[in-house]
Amino acid sequence: MHRMKVPRHIAIIMDGNGRWAKRQGMPRIMGHYRGAEVAEEITKACVDLGVEYLTLFAFSTENWNRPMEEVNLLFELMRDYLLKKKKDLIELGVRMRFIGRRDRLPKDLVALMKSMERDTEKCDRITLFLAVDYGGRDDIVRAVNRIIKEGFKEVDEETLSSYLDLAGVPDPDLLIRTAGEKRISNFLLWNLAYTELYFTDLCWPEFSKEELLKAIEDFSSRQRKFGRVLDE
Ligand code: IPE
Ligand code: IPE
Ligand code: MG
Repeated sequence: MHRMKVPRHIAIIMDGNGRWAKRQGMPRIMGHYRGAEVAEEITKACVDLGVEYLTLFAFSTENWNRPMEEVNLLFELMRDYLLKKKKDLIELGVRMRFIGRRDRLPKDLVALMKSMERDTEKCDRITLFLAVDYGGRDDIVRAVNRIIKEGFKEVDEETLSSYLDLAGVPDPDLLIRTAGEKRISNFLLWNLAYTELYFTDLCWPEFSKEELLKAIEDFSSRQRKFGRVLDE
């Protein structure tokens, strides 16, 4: 058996909450609640494994197109989660940060997000990025607009990267998407340029530490080439 290579940065598109709930004969929001528990379990597992960065897609710029009732319930769930879990996350050593737009979210949720960032600032076992009202294209457009405001006439890759939401963070080594969908859905477009992709048919509420280990095992067996020719 080969030794497991643990990714420094894992990004996850947590998909299939609604389908899972429907299969159980429950309303979609119950899938989101179960999904939040799984997110917590996976965060803990990543701390144990020594993963340095975990980025979870919680709400996309396109998710505003869902029924307003579901959108509001999702924000309610986030409020709930941030209030209830802060202490546990701090004890675990989780530094929590948010990526995405803040200008369209409920003000009180933004305030909670800020206090979470402040209160976990010194935690250093893992950095958890929660992507809320996040779109990969929006991230790039916001970066470009800030660059223009600062008077740049031209940019290079390094400059553009340094204005993105994940500035200074190594690109994800592994992207996991659950629920059988094989697309990026406007997640970290810039940062995923050389990320290894892993798809599973399991819905996010069914995902677990064991499944995470399977994904990492699969990742470990891959040869990352970054465009080069590798000697045999
Ligand atoms: C992922 O689950 C969570 C969010 C996008 C907020 P979905 O809600 O997309 O679940 P499905 O894809 O409809 O089953
Ligand atoms: C992607 O899932 C966004 C999140 C997981 C937050 P979606 O369910 O919104 O993606 P599509 O619509 O299937 O592409
Ligand atoms: Mg979905």
